[in-house]
Amino acid sequence: MLEDEQRLSIDKYFDSIKEYNDQKLIETDISTSVIESIIKSAGTAPSGANQQPWTYVIIEDKGKKQRILNTVKHPNTCSKNYSYLIALFKQNYGLVEKDGSEAKIKHYYPQESTSLSAGFLLAAFQYVGIKIELLPVEQSLRKELNRSSNEVPFLLIGIDNKSIHDDVLQLAENYFNVINRRRSTRKYSSQKFNKELLQKAIQCTNTILGYYVNEISCELMIVDSEEKKQQIRTRAEANEKRLYEELITDEWRRALKPLKTDWRKQHLTDAPYLLVVFFKKGAHSELVDSKTLAGIATGIMIQTVHRIGLSTLTYTPSPMQFLNEILTKPISNIPFMVLPIGFCASDYEPPHITRKSLQQYLVKI
Ligand SMILES: Cc1cc2nc3c(=O)[nH]c(=O)nc-3n(C[C@H](O)[C@H](O)[C@H](O)COP(=O)(O)O)c2cc1C
Repeated sequence: MLEDEQRLSIDKYFDSIKEYNDQKLIETDISTSVIESIIKSAGTAPSGANQQPWTYVIIEDKGKKQRILNTVKHPNTCSKNYSYLIALFKQNYGLVEKDGSEAKIKHYYPQESTSLSAGFLLAAFQYVGIKIELLPVEQSLRKELNRSSNEVPFLLIGIDNKSIHDDVLQLAENYFNVINRRRSTRKYSSQKFNKELLQKAIQCTNTILGYYVNEISCELMIVDSEEKKQQIRTRAEANEKRLYEELITDEWRRALKPLKTDWRKQHLTDAPYLLVVFFKKGAHSELVDSKTLAGIATGIMIQTVHRIGLSTLTYTPSPMQFLNEILTKPISNIPFMVLPIGFCASDYEPPHITRKSLQQYLVKI
C-alpha cells in the first residue's frame, strides 16, 4: 500500500468510527450468522503459542438470558431486552483426553491472548455498525453456562437488534476476509512510513475504547529512536538467551517449536517503530481491569494497522520491567507488550500453523 492510500484508508476508518457513535440506529434483523461471523473474526487474533485459549458462548435462550441479567449489577440491565448475550471465557489451561482421562495442557499468556481476541471482537462490531453494551462479568456465569473448570468468565456483551447499517452480514464477512489474512510478522523490510499514521491508528483505538469505558487506563507509546530500539533489543535478547538456554521447560519448547523462534529478536530494531503498551497498576473501571483493557486496546490497534497494510508481532519480553527504565516510565505503569510495526519483508514466510475452527471455540445456547 502506498503512503497516500494508507492515509486515505486510516482517515476513512477514523470517520467510520466517529459515525458509529453519531449515526441513527435502525432496526435490523441480526441473525446468528452475523454474530458467528464476527466471532470468527475475533478467533483470528494472535495468541500465545497459537493456543487460542478462548471460548465464546452465544446466548439466545430467553430464560437463560434473563437469569444471567438478574445476576448482573448494572443500572437498567434487568429490563433490557437484548437479542443476544455473548459470553467470552478465558481458558486458563487446556484439557485433552489422555488414556481415558482428562489431562491438563499449560496455556501460555491466556489473559493477554483472550483480551486481544476481545479487542478484535469489539473492532468487528464497530466495523459492522452493531451497537453493543459491555456488562459486568460475574463469576457465576461459568456455572450458569455449564462451562468447565479451566474456563474463567472474561467478558459479557449485550446486543440489541439495532445497527447503523442494514447489510450487516455482508459487512461482517468483509471484515473477516480482511482480518483473516493477518499474520504475526517476525521479519520487517527497511521501508519507512510516516509516524502520523501510527498516531492516527492510536486515535482510532482510543476512540473505540472510549465507547465502552470512561477512563483509558492504558497507553500505547510509539518508540522511534534507533538508540532506544537497540537498547530494548539488547535487554530483551539477554533475557531470551537465558530463557532458551536455561529456563525453558520441555513442554514450553514443544509449544514454541512450530513457530521456529529463537532468542534473536531482530524485528525489534528492523521495524521502523515499536509500540510499547503500558497499563496503570491497580486502575480498573466497573467493567474491565486495566490489564484487560490494555489487551483490548492492543487487539484493536493490531487490526487497525493491518487494515493499512502494516504488519506487527505481539511480543512479550520476560521479564519486562527494563522497559520502564529505558523509556523512563514510572513503575506505576506496567509494561504489557511490545509490538514492532512496519512492512513485512518480502521474503518472510510465516510458520505453517493452523487456527482452530469456529466450532472448536463456539457454543450456542
Ligand atoms: C501474549 C502473546 C505473546 C506472544 N509472544 C510471542 C513471542 O514472544 N515471540 C513470537 O515470535 N511470537 C509471539 N506471539 C505470537 C504468536 O506466536 C502468534 O500469534 C501465534 O503463533 C499465531 O500466529 P498468527 O499471529 O500469525 O496468527 C505472541 C502472541 C501473544 C498473544
